[in-house]
Amino acid sequence: MINAQTIRNKFLDFFKTKGHSIIPGASLIPENDPTVLFTTAGMHPLVPYLLGEKHPAGTRLADVQKCIRTGDIDEVGDKTHLTCFEMLGNWSLGDYFKDDSIAWSWEFLTEEKWLNLDKNRLAVSVFEGDENVPFDQESYDLWLKIGVKSERIVRLGKADNWWGPAGQTGPCGPDTEIFYWTGSEAAPEVYNPEDKRWVEIWNNVFMAYNKTIDGKFEPLSQKNVDTGMGLERILCMVNNINDVYATDLFSDAIKKIAELSGKTYSDNEKAFRIVADHIKAATMIIGDPKGVSPSNTDQGYVVRKLIRRAVRFSLMLEINSKIDITTELANIYIDNNKEQYPELEKNKDYILRELKKEEYKFKETLEKGLRIFAKVTENLSDKLIPAVSAFDLYQTYGFPLEMTLELAKERGFEVDAKGFEEELVKHQELSRTASAGKFKGGLADNSEETTKLHTATHLLLAALRTVLGDHVYQKGSNITADRLRLDFSHAQKMTDEEKQKVEDLVNHAIKAELPIICQLTSLDVAKKSGAMGVFDSKYQDQVKVYTVGQGDQIFSSEICGGPHVDNTKELKSFKILKEEASSAGVRRIKAIIG
Ligand code: ALA
Repeated sequence: MINAQTIRNKFLDFFKTKGHSIIPGASLIPENDPTVLFTTAGMHPLVPYLLGEKHPAGTRLADVQKCIRTGDIDEVGDKTHLTCFEMLGNWSLGDYFKDDSIAWSWEFLTEEKWLNLDKNRLAVSVFEGDENVPFDQESYDLWLKIGVKSERIVRLGKADNWWGPAGQTGPCGPDTEIFYWTGSEAAPEVYNPEDKRWVEIWNNVFMAYNKTIDGKFEPLSQKNVDTGMGLERILCMVNNINDVYATDLFSDAIKKIAELSGKTYSDNEKAFRIVADHIKAATMIIGDPKGVSPSNTDQGYVVRKLIRRAVRFSLMLEINSKIDITTELANIYIDNNKEQYPELEKNKDYILRELKKEEYKFKETLEKGLRIFAKVTENLSDKLIPAVSAFDLYQTYGFPLEMTLELAKERGFEVDAKGFEEELVKHQELSRTASAGKFKGGLADNSEETTKLHTATHLLLAALRTVLGDHVYQKGSNITADRLRLDFSHAQKMTDEEKQKVEDLVNHAIKAELPIICQLTSLDVAKKSGAMGVFDSKYQDQVKVYTVGQGDQIFSSEICGGPHVDNTKELKSFKILKEEASSAGVRRIKAIIG
């Protein structure tokens, strides 16, 4: 079996022969990017250079970059999804473009000296063009010239063959993707993008545009190439296996879980994978040069959730609770990855100490919480866990809502999550007011008012997008007892007519007496349904989507913590007080209701 280090080295050696400087991968914690918690792609740390800044190592770069993606956490447990993965990447900063990029990818994948993949199992896709950017004829012709048959070249639209930006703005462009046939029979003559046996292995982005805050695609001052190839995936392909956990990156950990649980991997794939994946990600985050330990905020919160979920699954596998599963596996990951990531060996004591501490703390919490959970569900007459019980589990026993949701789902219960959020808001209001020393009447009225203003904010955002366009995103929101304030992306001052239209739309929605419906769903389903919201910034298994209206009368749909009123009629009326500049490219509206 070919191991991961061999592939990493081959990749870097190959691009060295093509004049690339090998740069060290960056930290998992992004520098100067407050919009995301983790480095999510190989190009992420290179954004300033893709925008034109000079890189000290030159205009041809290659590296291995560790990445964390928490958006797909629900998918972890299958054969391919991972929270922590590595990307092999090569870049041209205004140097070579499509020609060399495509030729080198082909050479690396197919030449005997390099990966030696079978040419007959490869297919590609290119950008078909749209109203902003034309069909990528050049890439199409280059693939033909290299010898790929036209039946194996597919043209696809923006959803498939466009990459970036990583955040809301930044470098982006059409891409060409390379696929490998993983089926057991011979590869079909014609490439069919719907057939999942064709697996994407490499993405070459021809980054020639910058997406601006108002949704325009401006040509970049330099034409770049940004490529990304998932190490774990390519490792599977060269070894002819279809399960990333069977590669040397995970096989020792899987063996250890089998040994400690006395169970077989094949009978418990999902749980084995979740334990292996989450502990690896936690080890990598804690052991990063900018290492983060478990806490209740930001990256620390993600680490905490990963550890806790892994521990819970290890207990489901009946691994003795006296065994520290986190450090058992961390030791393996540190040993197996220290050549590529020497920081793991250097920070070994710290990693093991932090993991152990969190595991210990959680096991105590869990024991108590599970007992209470059992008691709560035992006495229920229906299958709905009331908000007060969920809140009590959270407040008194430190049981996060996600955990209650997950346990409930496994056991066929539902949770009144909307009520839970209301309890939470009520409680926060209480403690805030109490600590400010101004506990007096009118509290209930205040929080009711806040809820209404919160719903009004959703209506306003939807109306702004209708009147001004899809470039409008929420940039900030603040609600006091008597007004809402919304900051949103839009470059120009709004005209009186635009303001009037927005106001009218919101008032129409109020008059139409639209219901507000809250649904709990996976992040993936929410994304696909087109709900607005921030997708990648927080670790969440389940999200709440608040939809205003129903059927063909949907006014707004947003991922949001809530709470909201049940019907728009409660808002009575809506009025914009002021529209002003907030910062460059961001406008601010203050408005009232009632
Ligand atoms: N940035 C591109 C990707 O992540 C290469 O797929």
